[in-house]
Amino acid sequence: MNILVTGGAGFIGSHLVDGLIERGHRVRILDSLVGQVHGDTVPEFLNKDAEFIKADVCDAGAVAKALDGIEVIYHEAAEVGVGQSMYEIVRYVKANDLGTAVLLEEIIKRPTQFKKLVVASSMSIYGEGAYSCDSCNETVYPQLRGNEQLDAHEWELKCEDCDSTLKPVGTSEIKPLFPTSVYAVSKQDQEQYCICVGRAYKIPTVALRYFNVYGTRQALSNPYTGVCAIFSARLLNNQSPVIFEDGGQTRDFVHVSDIVQANLLALESDKANYQAINIGTGRPISVKEIAQMLAKGLGKDIEPEIVGKYREGDIRHCISDIAKAKKLLGYEPKVHLEEGLFGLLDWVKNQNADDHVAAATEELAMRQLVK
Ligand code: UD1
Repeated sequence: MNILVTGGAGFIGSHLVDGLIERGHRVRILDSLVGQVHGDTVPEFLNKDAEFIKADVCDAGAVAKALDGIEVIYHEAAEVGVGQSMYEIVRYVKANDLGTAVLLEEIIKRPTQFKKLVVASSMSIYGEGAYSCDSCNETVYPQLRGNEQLDAHEWELKCEDCDSTLKPVGTSEIKPLFPTSVYAVSKQDQEQYCICVGRAYKIPTVALRYFNVYGTRQALSNPYTGVCAIFSARLLNNQSPVIFEDGGQTRDFVHVSDIVQANLLALESDKANYQAINIGTGRPISVKEIAQMLAKGLGKDIEPEIVGKYREGDIRHCISDIAKAKKLLGYEPKVHLEEGLFGLLDWVKNQNADDHVAAATEELAMRQLVK
């Protein structure tokens, strides 16, 4: 099939492009090569068998050309820095909201041309994950922890009714959405714009809610990227990873190849049309454990620095419930964390990473976004 991948030069998009080409599809990439991610260069991993259009997804003319002859669209283009989205608001709304709007307007000019639209959504739209209160015997969906609680370094969530500590449980798609950053709101928008326009024009559309994705090609010098890349860059420069809170916060780290797997399945299966689906592993891992595993893997005797500060909008725990992905897509995560981190570090060892973490943290602290 003829497939367009917006953001196809990025971390996730480029792996997806490789996966599609391996399966015999013809792929066109539309990517603006955002400087913060790519520096001044075209990434050397850009697949040579893909056609590349360097343009912004907000450029309607370029999008129109990019859609020529296309049957399937993967919309992966987005600005992805959660903290940065809280002060570069126009930039994030423009790229993520307006970019998706431009793409959709161009799509609906040719409504019968497309067999599928798959949009990259994010676990960030949930805000806090789902929890259970063992004393009250119920599932709860708490809002963010208050500043008073965080200032007292009480990191875990408490039941509003009985004050006992809540236990994290798998977060399924029925959980109400409480996005806690401009980035997260824009991801929710992207997902919902695509599904509602897709439904109205009968273009089968699927939103995949990625959990915390890691793997090769993640932009190591971008301090606004995910924690695995940030910690790897710190360790490469012989600096301690800086851990917020106490390091006991957990996430669901999913390998980029499993994200590719889910995207390929979404193309094949019709059962997932007009649905939003979690793509993770269902397994929790703490941020402290990640720091230790990365240091060990790189052979560095460097302990993380637990600073006890916190980031505004950060959640404590969010782990995917992937029952829907299994049922509708036949998705099964294949890469275990130990194996995935091994592959990541094998790549990291040969990279140069400029460490901009201290400057980025200062920028957030100046705006009271890290306390
Ligand atoms: C956020 C988004 C997610 C996005 C990801 C990467 C939310 C709820 N989710 O995830 O959609 O894919 O960013 O852009 O907004 N941490 C440290 N030290 C660091 C960096 C992070 O301790 O130097 C901690 C954070 O405080 C957090 C955890 O590591 O508790 C994970 O952070 P991060 O990788 O930024 O991801 P999320 O905030 O989960």
